Amino acid sequence: MSFAVKLMQWYGEHGRDLPWRATQNPYIIWLSEIILQQTRVEQGRPYFYRFVDAFPNVAAFAEANEEDILRLWQGLGYYSRARNMHRAAQMVMQDFQGIFPTRYEEVIRLPGVGEYTAAAIASFSANEPKAVVDGNVYRVLARYLGIKEPINTSTGKKLFARLAQEMLDIHNPGAYNQAIMDFGALQCKPKKPLCEACVFRLDCRALRENNVEVLPVKLKGKGSRNRYFHYFIVREADRMLMAKRGQGDVWTSLYEFPMIETAADVSVPELMINPDFTEYFEENTILKVVDKPVKQVLSHQNIYARFYIVSEAGMVKAKKKEWDYHYYEKIDKLAKHKLIFSFLEKNGHLISATF
Ligand code: ADE
Repeated sequence: MSFAVKLMQWYGEHGRDLPWRATQNPYIIWLSEIILQQTRVEQGRPYFYRFVDAFPNVAAFAEANEEDILRLWQGLGYYSRARNMHRAAQMVMQDFQGIFPTRYEEVIRLPGVGEYTAAAIASFSANEPKAVVDGNVYRVLARYLGIKEPINTSTGKKLFARLAQEMLDIHNPGAYNQAIMDFGALQCKPKKPLCEACVFRLDCRALRENNVEVLPVKLKGKGSRNRYFHYFIVREADRMLMAKRGQGDVWTSLYEFPMIETAADVSVPELMINPDFTEYFEENTILKVVDKPVKQVLSHQNIYARFYIVSEAGMVKAKKKEWDYHYYEKIDKLAKHKLIFSFLEKNGHLISATF
């Protein structure tokens, strides 16, 4: 029996029943696939329902205001994806007469849609024979075929794309693509794959050669840089200062507390003589440290954040044109990045009873 036949049998018995599989609507598939690039299936499910409820069709998505999209996206990270979705929906309205395309060559023109997403949409919605290549597919093929070529070199990527296309069941590409991804997620898992109970245990080259743990091979990328962010909670009656981030750095256009960045991790006295600090806060400011520093790992940087409540005396000068007072009850509606909304979830009660 061929790889595809066995895989499809496995899928018939073990495949997941996922909400976005009940449709061939390319808009719904596109929504789910972009969300699933950011998170695992279980975490993605509530986001999927929220987006479908808020924007039942591409026209509604295109007309939405960007803040609302970012607010719904909050927690998924990598916010440029959400912005690209908005641009893609607008492009569907303008260039495709409001009809979400299903052909690979058309879908791939949409902002934020790469080869993986285009193959997923084209195969799931219209059975176009295009193989998806995601992390699951790399792992399953590398192991089954015993391929040691790294998956993140241009040679490796080309090789795996060609093999994925050769293995594809061209009579049933949509279901096959779903099947290989489920197989990677449930059976041929990154850690502790279920090899003893695997339909491919007699054919799998990695299992035979005792290479399951080392495949797929991935070359180590460049290291990450460390950044130190200091966030200030500046209150005035029933409102507090918030800042909207600019472009050209992480978290474009998302809201956060006023902050300054330092080149190293500094103590409170060191922070208070930092020129950015003295420019924006009074000399007699008292800072109250809140909670432990938080580390957030992004793709090429580690961000270490500390949070301080600024005493009333410090507020007099606390002004910068990007900083604005927002009433507590409005802050929930602002699109914030994870450091900020996690902080508010955990420590908001220290600021106001509203949180
Ligand atoms: N991961 C991302 N999209 C998926 C899909 N459609 N099926 C299974 N896993 C996925």
